[in-house]
Amino acid sequence: MPLPIIAEFLWKGIPSFPNGWTILKVVLAIAVVALIKWSSKGASNTSERQMHGKIVMITGGTSGIGAATALGLAERGAQLVLLVHQSPKDIFLVDYIEDLRERSGNELIYAEQVDLSSLYSIRQFATKWIDNAPPRRLDMIILCGSTLTPPGKPRVLTDEGIEETWMVNYLANFHLLSILSPAIRAQPPDRDIRIIFAHCSSYIRSPPIEDGSEAMKKKEWTPSKAYARSKLALTIFGQAFQKHLDAYKRPDGLPMNARVIFVDPGYSRTPGMRRWLTRGTLWGLGVYLILWQNAWLFLKSSEGGAQSFLYAAMEATLGRGAGGKMIKECQEVNYARADVKDEKSAKKLWESSEKLIERVEREEAVKRALQKKEKEELGKSQAPKVQASATSATDTKKGEMKRRNENMRSIAQALIIEALAVVRPITIMKFLRDSNFIWQRDSIKQWEAEVV
Ligand SMILES: NC(=O)c1ccc[n+]([C@@H]2O[C@H](COP(=O)([O-])OP(=O)(O)OC[C@H]3O[C@@H](n4cnc5c(N)ncnc54)[C@H](OP(=O)(O)O)[C@@H]3O)[C@@H](O)[C@H]2O)c1
Repeated sequence: MPLPIIAEFLWKGIPSFPNGWTILKVVLAIAVVALIKWSSKGASNTSERQMHGKIVMITGGTSGIGAATALGLAERGAQLVLLVHQSPKDIFLVDYIEDLRERSGNELIYAEQVDLSSLYSIRQFATKWIDNAPPRRLDMIILCGSTLTPPGKPRVLTDEGIEETWMVNYLANFHLLSILSPAIRAQPPDRDIRIIFAHCSSYIRSPPIEDGSEAMKKKEWTPSKAYARSKLALTIFGQAFQKHLDAYKRPDGLPMNARVIFVDPGYSRTPGMRRWLTRGTLWGLGVYLILWQNAWLFLKSSEGGAQSFLYAAMEATLGRGAGGKMIKECQEVNYARADVKDEKSAKKLWESSEKLIERVEREEAVKRALQKKEKEELGKSQAPKVQASATSATDTKKGEMKRRNENMRSIAQALIIEALAVVRPITIMKFLRDSNFIWQRDSIKQWEAEVV
């Protein structure tokens, strides 16, 4: 059958197709798009490992790459402890966990409230976790939680006064692992413990870290510098944490079975990446939607980004030999900077991070104690007025009347305070201004500028 066709081609030449060039161009364009898409999709995890019975703690498991990793591990039977900043009663979180359980067919998925922007919240959770005898089982910690200030947006400080990117991306992990360290080291020797850090190639562009104090300064702060710096600090800390684990002499004399692994997921279409690309603005979102095909073409999906995390969690060879390896596209790669393994830098950063945490936690503890005291005193000063009239039964009628009046006054006061809490003075002022009741608009505006 093909021979007569080939013979005809040779005899008469290749026949000309109508619109031949156009068809060829379309085919070439489709081939180029397919090639770009195929190369940007990234490598797939081919490692499989039994995850049933394994307890995996994960930060950032509610969004993007972390959520895709959580689903992948849940589908393989792992018990997940999601560390989230919402309350476990938050309806969106409840819905998310129910959906995750349904999709993975795994009921063993729980959430614990841990706000990575709060040292106090991290301490509360981690001390509760380690306060257990015998130590709780813990097979893996995946640190995916992160934040990224969109370009053009201002520098943000946490409630505890620490620069947010530094806190969430670096210091939170330092604090969490420092407290959980005894629980990690106490795991039986036959367990393969993995601590997986989300890495990012942006660390290559970071200025040197020194003792980390530059990260707290307002001068020369930019969102990308802050992010790159936090990722470099995390990498330096991760290497030092591996050394800290290796230096531990187990009571059974066996070698350390916990390993740190870094994972660079590659650029992926996640909510975090979208926030970055859209600059956190509505017009940015509009541009993103118009150019969505570009993001689809050049960036991985969240599931694609999760592949290297699943590989790091399951590949058997990573459970042997030295820790501190870096995984990218489901294979081990080298670090692009030598200073990530520099012991002097690591020591400086570790010590200054400890000092910063100690200072902030002490200040916050004092603040909390003062607030508690103020609350108690306020409660005490209001209570006697309300209770006073109850003990006046044996007093003279005059005294009784006086106390009753006092009582009424304190109830009225309480009602006014309650009402003011609901309808704040500014609301009243705005109402007056809008109704042109008293004062002219300008004087109200001046009042707002001074008081609000
Ligand atoms: N996407 C990329 O292209 C890319 C590239 C290289 C490296 N990475 C790294 O991969 C990891 C995952 O990236 P992603 O893009 O998937 O992130 P993402 O979509 O921005 O998700 C970040 C996660 O961190 C959580 N989080 C943020 N602030 C928190 C806080 N204060 N307390 C507790 N949780 C908090 C978020 O919780 P809520 O959703 O509840 O706010 C969310 O689950 C990150 O470490 C990132 O640096 C990403």
